[in-house]
Amino acid sequence: MAGLVMGVLTVLLAILAAWFLFFTRRRREDEPPLENGWLPYLGLAFQFGSNPLEFLRSRQKKYGDAVTCKIAGSYFTFILDPFSYCAVFRNGKNLDFQKFAIETSRKVFGHADFTDPKYNLTYEELHHIFRQTLQGPALHPLTSNMMENLQFVMLRSKTSAWTTEGLYSFTFRIMFEAGYLTLFGKDEKALRDDTERFEAHKVLIHKAMNDFKVFDKAFPLIVAGLPIGIIRGVKAAREALAERLQHKYLKKNSSISALTEQRMRYFDPVPYLDELGKARTHNVMLWASQANTLPATFWSLYYMLRSPEAMQAAKTEVENMLQETNQKSGDAEKPVSFSKDQLDNMPLTNSIISEALRLSSASIMIRIATENFTLTLDSGSKIAIRKGDRVALYPQMVHMDSDIYEDPEEFKFNRFLDENGQKKTTFYKNGRKLKSYLMPFGSGISECPGRFFAVNEIKQFLALVLCYYDMELQGDEALPLDNSRAGLGILQPKQDVLFTYKLKNT
Ligand code: HEM
Repeated sequence: MAGLVMGVLTVLLAILAAWFLFFTRRRREDEPPLENGWLPYLGLAFQFGSNPLEFLRSRQKKYGDAVTCKIAGSYFTFILDPFSYCAVFRNGKNLDFQKFAIETSRKVFGHADFTDPKYNLTYEELHHIFRQTLQGPALHPLTSNMMENLQFVMLRSKTSAWTTEGLYSFTFRIMFEAGYLTLFGKDEKALRDDTERFEAHKVLIHKAMNDFKVFDKAFPLIVAGLPIGIIRGVKAAREALAERLQHKYLKKNSSISALTEQRMRYFDPVPYLDELGKARTHNVMLWASQANTLPATFWSLYYMLRSPEAMQAAKTEVENMLQETNQKSGDAEKPVSFSKDQLDNMPLTNSIISEALRLSSASIMIRIATENFTLTLDSGSKIAIRKGDRVALYPQMVHMDSDIYEDPEEFKFNRFLDENGQKKTTFYKNGRKLKSYLMPFGSGISECPGRFFAVNEIKQFLALVLCYYDMELQGDEALPLDNSRAGLGILQPKQDVLFTYKLKNT
């Protein structure tokens, strides 16, 4: 028996040795330092995945500005020097974003492969729709619809009693429903005067919220490569979300966003795309518009509630805005309205949101090298990148760098205000001004097209809860971040926290 075990062990060792000898990649001249890790295929997946920030900090200490690591079958060259980020953003010629984005999106949302010419679709046209409907003048109607929808959801229950609820659950249910109605429209008459249809609306939103939670929870696993079909209930939840976004339902709604309207018009004549196929693409928009906004809104409110100074300063800013616009706070019968331009003029609330984003954001920016090429770093050193490799940036390293942000673990509500109380845009590392110092929305070609709307939504939410509610957070322990979503955007809290609230003046 002992002999058999020894024999099996010897064979395994021989296979492992052969693997390392013949299949392990070796560093070539001019390439960054290389770490393959010990596990065949997986490489350093576990070390990186368990704490990307610590992993990359340790490599920066050891290797300096760049390192290549094998992670889950792919080679990632991490650029660790923030002054070299723009070298990546500017190099669209050798570094592709679209292919990676479309592949990931297909894997997760199950939509068609739009790179196939038979669909006659282009990424550029889709991107143009984002810019046209989420930015510039398009932000005005989007903002006013969101304002109306937020108050519709918040003020539905007019009970005067104190209520205790999880802060995440409170933020989630209000932002999800208001965001859903803003993007995909609503049956206005039903929401106003038809009890039966109003009940049907509540059931639909409740179901959509639950399906979204199930799908979003599994999101990191699906991105990591686990087939969606083997995670219980997830595919059904994803398909149910898409089902409700079919054009036959959306066409019945009014106040539909220009984004959804234009995408419907764009997809309608596409050959080989059935109704559910179109709806799956709208599900991508549902996820993109909610998955980061919900936790970002939570953290903004959470940090504001924890800091009496932040709370007081935000209240003063909102009260000033109400006075300037001749409105009164807390009157549930007379909805408050702040325009996009007025929201743009709230630097304090903006600073609270930027600080909450800095502390909770953990996205990764990835590009794929289309050719063998040389990348010149800010220091002037040149690194060779192989075709097919990924080049990655991890902005959390910048956000949590004590040279850039004093006491980076701490929430400082006025960190993003300058000495005149306006938006601060000058941050330094090693005495040099940094261009990219806050990147929760990514940067370069892949920068989030919904970023202006997202910040507006969160501002509206904070302003409205300050207008309508008396609020208190229960307990004062700091909430840990759930790192299982690191790389995918805004992290969620590990658990919810209770808070108590009551409508003012009722
Ligand atoms: C706090 C909220 C948000 C955060 C932190 C956020 C962050 C991001 C990030 C990091 C990316 C990817 C960048 C990359 O891969 O390099 C992205 C992409 C995207 N986001 Fe956002 N986002 C937010 C809200 C929104 C909203 C509200 C919308 C739409 C209404 C939206 C629409 C999109 C779209 C469509 C893309 C894909 C763009 C493309 O494929 O080029 N996002 N977002």
